[in-house]
Amino acid sequence: MLKELLKKTRSYRRFDHSVKITREELTDIVEIYRLLPSAMNHQPLKFYIACDEEIVDKLFEYTFWAGAIKDGKPVSEESPVAYIVICFDKSIGGCCDWDAGITSLALMERAVEMGYGGTIIGSFTKDKFIEILGIEEGLEPNLILALGKPIENVILTDPKDGEITYYRDENRNHYVPKRPISEILKN
Ligand SMILES: Cc1cc2nc3c(=O)[nH]c(=O)nc-3n(C[C@H](O)[C@H](O)[C@H](O)COP(=O)(O)O)c2cc1C
Repeated sequence: MLKELLKKTRSYRRFDHSVKITREELTDIVEIYRLLPSAMNHQPLKFYIACDEEIVDKLFEYTFWAGAIKDGKPVSEESPVAYIVICFDKSIGGCCDWDAGITSLALMERAVEMGYGGTIIGSFTKDKFIEILGIEEGLEPNLILALGKPIENVILTDPKDGEITYYRDENRNHYVPKRPISEILKN
């Protein structure tokens, strides 16, 4: 079951903009954090959510998508309908990157289980997110989850000649080459 969920947990970058995600649903996703491991159990992460259309559209301007391909950024009619911003609370300390990595995937899996999907995004203009969401001083945005109802076909594939860059075909199917087990398992 986990394997099936993980196969479905692709990075989706085009959404049915008419399907909204509520504050309650986003809160349900964030609550997954309370089930997760955390280095030294510091639990240094804090979260901001956004599902108000005006705010979501503003945040979209400051997100960067699929840098390896042309037209990787969704058009505004297919853009995300919600964001979860994972912030590091510097007053608590601990291991932000390790915890944020684990957390971003776990929260995304919950979103997929609920019928949504999206992309974990590390490339975004942090200052703009702080300004637009009024993120408290001492909290540093680390990763965001851009969410919605995916309308994109994402296909896992084997690398050709070792090439692992993702690509799209003329029908906008999105292909993601994954390195084979013979390459990644070393003994
Ligand atoms: C920590 C992290 C940061 C990422 N940042 C971005 C990003 O800024 N923009 C983006 O379009 N995709 C981003 N991605 C998504 C990756 O591009 C994606 O995981 C990769 O292409 C493989 O596709 P898959 O998730 O469907 O397996 C990020 C993924 C991770 C794990």
